[in-house]
Amino acid sequence: MSAARKELVDVGGAAAPEREVDPALIPHDEADESGLRPRTLAEFVGQPDLVEHLSIVLEAARRRSHPVDHILFAGPPGLGKTTLASIVAQEMGVGLRITSGPVLARAGDLAATLTDLQEGDVLFIDEIHRLARVVEEVLYPAMEEGQLDVMLGKGPTARSLRLDLPRFTLVGATTRTGLVASPLRDRFGFVGRLDLYDSSDLERIVARSARLLGIPITPGGAEEIATRSRGTPRIANRLLRRVRDFAEVREHSEVTRDVAAQGLALFGVDALGLDKLDLAILHTLAVRFDGNPVGLTTLAHAVGEETETIEEAYEPYLIRQGLLHRTPRGRVATERAFEHLGVSRGNGRLL
Ligand SMILES: Nc1ncnc2c1ncn2[C@@H]1O[C@H](COP(=O)(O)OP(=O)(O)OP(=O)(O)O)[C@@H](O)[C@H]1O
Ligand SMILES: [Mg+2]
Repeated sequence: MSAARKELVDVGGAAAPEREVDPALIPHDEADESGLRPRTLAEFVGQPDLVEHLSIVLEAARRRSHPVDHILFAGPPGLGKTTLASIVAQEMGVGLRITSGPVLARAGDLAATLTDLQEGDVLFIDEIHRLARVVEEVLYPAMEEGQLDVMLGKGPTARSLRLDLPRFTLVGATTRTGLVASPLRDRFGFVGRLDLYDSSDLERIVARSARLLGIPITPGGAEEIATRSRGTPRIANRLLRRVRDFAEVREHSEVTRDVAAQGLALFGVDALGLDKLDLAILHTLAVRFDGNPVGLTTLAHAVGEETETIEEAYEPYLIRQGLLHRTPRGRVATERAFEHLGVSRGNGRLL
């Protein structure tokens, strides 16, 4: 990675070592969200199985005074993969380096990052399913034997040199486990899968964020935001901020259930938390295709989105809500979807 792309960012907490962050990796909406990120496993809400397994893996490594085994976090966007990567570093008291699959375009980029690690560091590679094959090949010996093969020169005089790397923990994150090449997947000692959060966990997350942001909120207000957050903490935090805007401008002294419901309705978030694209997907399936199975590509075209976005970010929640089914012949809208849209089968007549 070139020096120009490096930036040192304060992760807060006196003991936290410097970390290297590519600014392009911080989505705008999260720029002011870093303060909301849980810093320890104890602060991390929900995902009880994953948290229990991870705490055992971390504790065991601590007792052996050994870096943790390589870890892969998989799951839909906004559920806490990046958060967990920084928790791993924090809990182990080591440095964190952040990069991503698309940033590590050439083998040399990864070699530069690896040789720059300190003993015990966590190297976080986001979107690891997007690593180029040539880069993956540099990663394998590094993960397995802590070694880096460097090619010196070109053509017939070229020689390869093995370098010993400091011991490190690779933490990978992916929204698409299916796209992580199996030789790479097999080299992770622990795979943590994140599922959509249930409402009670999201309620705790909203209450915690409200406390940190100094927003007065009632339990009913937190519940209202939680049930409309599509199972996703990032969305819960975003909706909380929009509701805060609404409450401030309309001069409500606290966020009650009513204030939350009015604010969310104003911003076009419906009772199930569906946004415009969710509704466009359901409308396409139920009305345009009249409940018949629709292939993913056709669906993506119809709503003007990438197939990946629909598969990764939208379908999991629609499926969980019982609004959409995946069938071998394509995606279909369920009865509940027809009800939610207020249309009946047969050319999508309004009820
Ligand atoms: N378990 C949790 N408890 C409290 N807050 C959480 C939790 N998980 C995530 N968050 C909040 O949600 C935000 C999004 O989490 P994070 O950035 O870790 O998601 P991600 O899985 O890395 O998403 P992406 O796939 O888009 O990179 C964080 O800033 C954090 O504030
Ligand atoms: Mg992330």
